[in-house]
Parts: sequence; C-alpha cells; structure tokens
Amino acid sequence: MKPMRIHAPHEKTDGMKNFIFQNPTRLVFGKGQIEKLSELLPQDVKLMITLGSGSVTRNGVYDQVKESLRGRNFIEFWGIEPNPRVETLRKAIQTGKENRIDYLLAVGGGSVLDGTKLIAAGMATEEDAWDIVLKGVAEKQIPFASVMTVPATGSEMNGGAVITREETREKYSFGGDYPQFSILDPEVTYTLSEHQIACGLADAYTHVLEQYLTTTGQSRIMDRWAEGLLLSLIEIAPGIKANPRDYDLMADYMLAATLALNDFIRMGITQDWATHQIGHELTALHGTTHGHSLAIVMPATLRVLKEQKKAKLLQYGERVFGIAGGTDEEKADKAIEMTEAFYRSLGLTTRLSDEGIGEKTIHTIARRFNQRGVAFGENRNVTGDVAEEILKSAI
Ligand code: NZQ
Ligand code: ZN
Repeated sequence: MKPMRIHAPHEKTDGMKNFIFQNPTRLVFGKGQIEKLSELLPQDVKLMITLGSGSVTRNGVYDQVKESLRGRNFIEFWGIEPNPRVETLRKAIQTGKENRIDYLLAVGGGSVLDGTKLIAAGMATEEDAWDIVLKGVAEKQIPFASVMTVPATGSEMNGGAVITREETREKYSFGGDYPQFSILDPEVTYTLSEHQIACGLADAYTHVLEQYLTTTGQSRIMDRWAEGLLLSLIEIAPGIKANPRDYDLMADYMLAATLALNDFIRMGITQDWATHQIGHELTALHGTTHGHSLAIVMPATLRVLKEQKKAKLLQYGERVFGIAGGTDEEKADKAIEMTEAFYRSLGLTTRLSDEGIGEKTIHTIARRFNQRGVAFGENRNVTGDVAEEILKSAI
C-alpha cells in the first residue's frame, strides 16, 4: 500500500496567521422557510423589498414573500439587473431615502443582494454610491436581509458585494455588513436554467480554490474543509445535471455555495482571488456570466502559476482527484487538466476563443491592471503583465 504523503516541516511555507472570526448572519435553511419571514423581520421597520426583473414572480417566491408579509407595510424596488449597476442602484437609494426606509429585504440572486448591500450603504450616507465602491468598504449601512434564490455567490452570508458601472464598464467589489438573516429554500432553485446552475457550481468551486490553492502547511483544518467542499461539489454535480429537482442534491449545492464563501474556510490563511479579478474584467467588457468567466480563467491561472502553487496542486490532485502516479510535474499538470475537465463537465466552455474573445480584450485588461497599479494573488504578483500571460494561456 502506498503511504499517505505527509508534508515535511520544511515544506511549511507560511504558517497560520492571526485572525478574528465573526459571522453574524442567521441562516434559515429548508423547505417552506420563506414563511418565517415575518417573524425574522423586526416589527415596526419601514421596509423596502428589492428585486430583479421577475424570476421571482414566475417561480412563486414573490407570492410566498407577500403572503408572509401580509398586514405589513412595505414598498418594492424592481429591476436590479444581473451584475448590478450603480446607475440603477442610485435610483433605489433615492427611492429609499424619499420613503424614509430603514430596512431592506433582497429577494433574488447574488446580484439583487449585492445591489442591496450598496443601497444599504448609500442610504446611510450622502456620498455617491460609486465612491463607496471605489473606497472598497462601506463604513455604515442600514440593516438588510435576504431571501436567496441562486446558490453561487455566498453573498447571503458574507459582507462582500460586486458592483458594475455600466458607463465605464468597470466592475469592482466592496466590503461591509453581513445580511441580518438569509432564508435559503432549496426548492426555489428548481426554476434555474442549466446554464445558471453550471455557473453557480463553477462559482462555488472557484471560491474554494481561491482560498485553498495557495500554499501548503497553513492549516490542516482549513485544508480539509476546503477539500470536503470540493469533493462534495464534484460528487453532486452530475446528479444535479441529470435531475435539477432532486431536493437533497440541491440542498447540498445550496449549502456548499454558502459555506464556500462565508469566511469559514479562510481562517488564518492566505488567499488568491486573482482569477476573480480577471473574471470581473471579462464580465465588465463582454457580459460573460460570472461563474463562466471563472471556468475560463482559473485553469489558465493554475497553468501560469504552476511553480508557485505546485506543492498545493499536488495535495489537491491527490486528495481531491486521487492522482497518484507520475512525477510531480505530471501530477501537477494532471490536477490542472482535471480542474478544467470539471468545469467542462458542468457544460461550460473554458477557453476565450470559444467565446469569441481575443487579443484586443487581453490587452485592454492588461492595460487596465497596469494603469490601476494593481497586483493580485497570494503573492501579490499577478500584475497586468501576468494577467496578460494568464489570458493568453486561456485562448
Ligand atoms: O433578475 P431576475 O429576474 O431575478 O433573474 C435572475 C437573473 O437573471 C435569475 N434568477 C434568480 N433566481 C432565479 C432565477 N431564475 C430562475 N430561478 C431562480 N430561482 O438568474 C439570473 C442571474 O442572477 P444573479 O443574481 O446575477 O446570479 P448570481 O447569484 O450568480 O450573482 C452573480 C453576481 O454576484 C457577484 C457576481 O460578480 C455577479 O455580479 N458575486 C458576488 C459575490 C459576493 N457578494 O460575495 C462573490 C462572487 O464571487 C460574485 O463575484
Ligand atoms: Zn465568484
């Protein structure tokens, strides 16, 4: 029997860092839980419900929300688009201020909730909403909660939000408060399209990789939790594809997406996030769905940063894909190939050329990174030039 690979102490590149953990969101999970809305919301709040463009009316979520809020006063703000735009959110902030709203309830996917996080910030200040995004942190927000209808972003249990400025085709994230509560009923996912499910699974999987695929030897606990989520996503994906109305599978998918980005798997460890930053540019410039952009960029990031990430790639390959034979080089390559194959198995393309994206966009993204003087990744070495290399590898 082959002995298990034990990482020698000299491989420990970067030990566990100090951290403070606090996730205040109350997670209310399961069938029929939208009816808890009224008891979860404080009494006597002036409520504004925020929504997308109508999926919730087609799948009965809106009716369930209305039923649960019977007898309460609230106003509604519709039209928060996928990749929520600051131009729309400014209008929502104005509506909220005019009506002296003091509590927001997002009913929809990550976009509606992210947009709502910015509305909550804009309502607590006189500052322009885009300035809050550019600062990267909301100092004050009015309270908000969610009924989440897409498993993907983890926004239902984290303090992040990603906002697009349509005028300049820019897309950036900012951090702030967490939702007071989020209701997750896996049955509401039954109406998601195959593409949305593929993108959601890819997003959740990539969130784990962004926090896990850096260096070895930081925390056994974080590693095992991350690997557990990756293995679960790989295990449930084919079943979900075959039957997206299987409650237990959709429940595991929904919970995995939440746990992938609610701070639990990043205690005291270094993180990457370069793939996300490059992916946001693809979405801003071409409208590529978020999860799909990651399926294109992540394998390329791993190819370009293979040496830097090699020890962790070997651990990932062995523990998640069961890669055993060959040299370290071959095993690392195999782990990257299997990652790309996983995204493809979801039904997503993984190359820029499949999407008609080429050199022009690559240069634009490299120039944008260079102009902003940014450098991403766990070693802060993904500059404009490295992003260019990554995107070229994704052609
Ligand atoms: O607008 P409606 O009519 O509601 O339709 C939506 C939208 O067209 C539809 N939809 C939502 N729930 C549905 C449904 N269709 C059928 N059945 C349902 N149950 O789905 C479409 C996409 O929704 P969206 O909210 O855009 O999807 P997702 O949840 O994937 O959110 C993506 C956004 O979140 C950001 C992304 O960048 C992107 O802007 N992210 C947010 C993060 C965070 N806050 O932590 C982290 C992520 O990395 C990500 O960047
Ligand atoms: Zn993401």
